[in-house]
Amino acid sequence: MGAMDGRRAIVTGAASGIGRATAHLLAREGARVLVVDLDGDGAEAVAHEIRAKGREAIAVRADVTRDADCRAAVDQAVEAFGGLDTLVNCAGVIRRANAVDLAEADWDLVMAVNVKSVYLMAHHAVPVMAGSAMAESASAATDDRGRRASDGQRRGGAIVNIGSGWGLKGGPDAVAYCASKGAVVNMTRAMAIDHGPQGIRVNCVCPGDTDTPMLRAEARQLGADEAAFLAESAERPLARLGTPDDVAQAILYLVSDASSWVTGTTLVVDGGGIA
Ligand SMILES: NC(=O)c1ccc[n+]([C@@H]2O[C@H](COP(=O)([O-])OP(=O)(O)OC[C@H]3O[C@@H](n4cnc5c(N)ncnc54)[C@H](O)[C@@H]3O)[C@@H](O)[C@H]2O)c1
Repeated sequence: MGAMDGRRAIVTGAASGIGRATAHLLAREGARVLVVDLDGDGAEAVAHEIRAKGREAIAVRADVTRDADCRAAVDQAVEAFGGLDTLVNCAGVIRRANAVDLAEADWDLVMAVNVKSVYLMAHHAVPVMAGSAMAESASAATDDRGRRASDGQRRGGAIVNIGSGWGLKGGPDAVAYCASKGAVVNMTRAMAIDHGPQGIRVNCVCPGDTDTPMLRAEARQLGADEAAFLAESAERPLARLGTPDDVAQAILYLVSDASSWVTGTTLVVDGGGIA
């Protein structure tokens, strides 16, 4: 028995880093996973790895800043899995620059990938999840000897948005990224209020520095020595960088029934970095 048995999940940004680890973990726990990324070959490779372990995954190349791509990804999950109850918005980009140095195109890119995508994916996924909720409530009413499923037991779905420690505090030379992650934290609360009555929980995970290609890209963008940058990033109470799996485990908690009364919250996973 896995914590995600029978679940149908979309993970965006799943070709790399935290998204990839999450796709693997949800599949290992029994979910069927749509592996969504702009990097189509990378998504295919991850789906292949998951299938090689005897689990179910389908790769989809999608640009999550585009409405048509987000709609197509949700449609594909419904077609392949018969519905959708889990959405993890992991796709993200960073541009390390202050307001003076940041190019307008980079502002637009960061806001589109990190913020607009969360809205677009929810725009298409929530109606499907809400439909599942109604179907499950109806079948629970008949299956369970006439007893209606209580609100606490309804399973419309769960969404996890990936914020950042820099959605909760500021950081240097990352003005668009900080703006975008602050938006993700508060969008999560707004979405939790809106969609709780449909049985859909919406939560946010805010990772600290996690060893992924994005963190190494930051060193390059800042013109920093990579080893020194990573060593400095590891300076925190637990004295190491996060691993993608550290973050995936927190995401698993928030999409599984272990967190059935948790919505609108932000879980910081950062080795104590902002403590
Ligand atoms: N690594 C960290 O230290 C850290 C810290 C805090 C928050 N985060 C957040 O975690 C999430 C995952 O980051 P990561 O570190 O795994 O990064 P990563 O670069 O390893 O993975 C990000 C993935 O998003 C995909 N992507 C980018 N633009 C896309 C688009 N338009 N459409 C679809 N996919 C797109 C990329 O192709 C890539 O596979 C991001 O939201 C990031 O902001 C990361």
